[in-house]
Amino acid sequence: MKLPRVCHSCASDGSSRQDKDRRKKLDPTIVSIRRALIDWFGKTGRDLPWRRDYDPYHVWISEIMLQQTQMGRGVIYYKRWLERFPDIRTVAEAEEREILKYWEGLGYYARARNLHKAAQAMVDRHAGCIPQSYEVLLSLPGIGPYTAAAIASIAYNHDIALADANVERILARLFDIDGPIKNSTTKKIINQKALELLPAGAARIFNQALMDLGGLICTPKNPACTECPVAEFCSALRAGRVHERPVVSPSGKTIPIEMATGVLTHRGLLFIQQRLADDVWGSLWEFPGGRLETGETPEETVVREYREETGFAVEVVAGITTVIHHYMKYRVVLHGFSCRLIGECTEPLLHAAQDFRWIALQDLAQYGFPAGHRKLIEYMKKSSPGVSP
Ligand code: ADE
Repeated sequence: MKLPRVCHSCASDGSSRQDKDRRKKLDPTIVSIRRALIDWFGKTGRDLPWRRDYDPYHVWISEIMLQQTQMGRGVIYYKRWLERFPDIRTVAEAEEREILKYWEGLGYYARARNLHKAAQAMVDRHAGCIPQSYEVLLSLPGIGPYTAAAIASIAYNHDIALADANVERILARLFDIDGPIKNSTTKKIINQKALELLPAGAARIFNQALMDLGGLICTPKNPACTECPVAEFCSALRAGRVHERPVVSPSGKTIPIEMATGVLTHRGLLFIQQRLADDVWGSLWEFPGGRLETGETPEETVVREYREETGFAVEVVAGITTVIHHYMKYRVVLHGFSCRLIGECTEPLLHAAQDFRWIALQDLAQYGFPAGHRKLIEYMKKSSPGVSP
């Protein structure tokens, strides 16, 4: 997403944004909106752990974790993460396996792998510090325009406006913008408004006020307009169109996927394999399995997938359970089965994985699994009291 680059436009003629603000006659509504938001944030802003010190490392971790993650869940993972990884160096020096383990359950594991690589780059090239510059931040793995702007503004209070989905929604309502939100012209209008609204020297507070407004009041569904600090300036509210803003083009439907997986046990140990590094769940661990092919039963899928992915001949012993989970636009139905080897146990011929282990049920907790497999493991744990996978 293209962001308004406040700091750049200031740099071009050598004057600061504060100077420009002072020179320019500001629209009184813009001034009132800024003041109302900043006052509201001062009184009602959420007490979040990284807001206690605005340490750049803390801000970075929070921003990466909060991408695609709800706040309550993000805070729990954030606290646990900081206990194990108190600074950049501990992240840089950790093994990827441990990083993924601490990320397990948050999903979108590329975030964790990129965070690991970015920490190593910061140690190698930036003296173990989080860079201040928007451009340098952008050059690091896993840091896109939104995150670079969030870190530069929240950790370093640089004058950079944010334009994520929350801000787009707020501004589309505040200024009753009627263009489709995905449209590039609409995005330009929104970026222009975000730039106009940003008060010089107060990006840290202002951007977070917008984030909290988007998360608590100006929510996608059922916005709490009666509690909104900027309701009196909201054009969509005045026109009775809050629910029509932002304008969204019809989105794609949920795509159902049916999969099957087999928990193979041999001499009391379970077989797991580590996925190749190059897909969404890359480097996570799993029980072999895959999508049902046309006309196949889930049991047949398990037998086929074991043969194709590991070379093992297996047979299904019993169903464990079926779990459902949602991933982006997919609704995944995953059938889990226990199975056993037919014949001798040999070395697997891995075709869809980079590594494998035979491990005890209680040791599953040491490995990171995608959400569906983790749900299956939780189910197995409940039905086998005494073990703690
Ligand atoms: N969402 C993403 N980053 C956030 C932050 N720093 N504060 C509140 N909500 C957020």
